Amino acid sequence: MTRILVFSGATRPASLNRRLAAIATRDLRAMGATVTEISLLDFPLPFVDEDGRPNPPQEAHAFNAALQGHDGIFIATPEYNSGYPPILKNALDWASMCNGGKPGLGGKVVALGAASPSPRGGYRVLTQLRSTLELGFGALVIPEMAPVPFANKALAEDGTIADEASAKMLAACLQRLVAEVKLRQKD
Ligand SMILES: Cc1cc2nc3c(=O)[nH]c(=O)nc-3n(C[C@H](O)[C@H](O)[C@H](O)COP(=O)(O)O)c2cc1C
Repeated sequence: MTRILVFSGATRPASLNRRLAAIATRDLRAMGATVTEISLLDFPLPFVDEDGRPNPPQEAHAFNAALQGHDGIFIATPEYNSGYPPILKNALDWASMCNGGKPGLGGKVVALGAASPSPRGGYRVLTQLRSTLELGFGALVIPEMAPVPFANKALAEDGTIADEASAKMLAACLQRLVAEVKLRQKD
């Protein structure tokens, strides 16, 4: 079974990245993966700091359990001033304190997408988040990434992607994610 967790770093009901996450969920299921889609809003957490380490809140353990219970992860992230939104890093940092000292995403294959109304499609946050997940969390982040420029026009509510280049990049990203997870299951 190819178990993949999907979530976005977005909070708005009308979020473009939540829409991208929903598209990824649909497409991964069509590839035969077993997908769980979660919302970070279901894990309300205070600001993380060292004092939280001895006794992380139940929501931190629940989010970490969701991460650890899957082999692959797809994250659709907004770009805020070239970087990731605080809710995303806060949740990941909390989860890293619930993993018995092991890297928070050790052994996980991670794929990244970003939807933005800008012409760059959130490409800068993808490079920043990739570096953090690899160096700080021990994840294997696949090279194929899925930026969606002009996402306010490209991502329709019915789940179609109007921009062909974005649709191709997302397809390549999801296919590699599934392939890498399967490869590791054979090892
Ligand atoms: C504080 C803030 C900073 C932003 N900085 C960027 C940016 O650096 N690059 C970009 O493409 N969009 C930027 N945006 C615009 C977001 O891409 C846009 O709000 C997007 O719709 C957010 O994702 P969402 O629709 O999933 O909420 C920024 C938005 C906010 C609120």
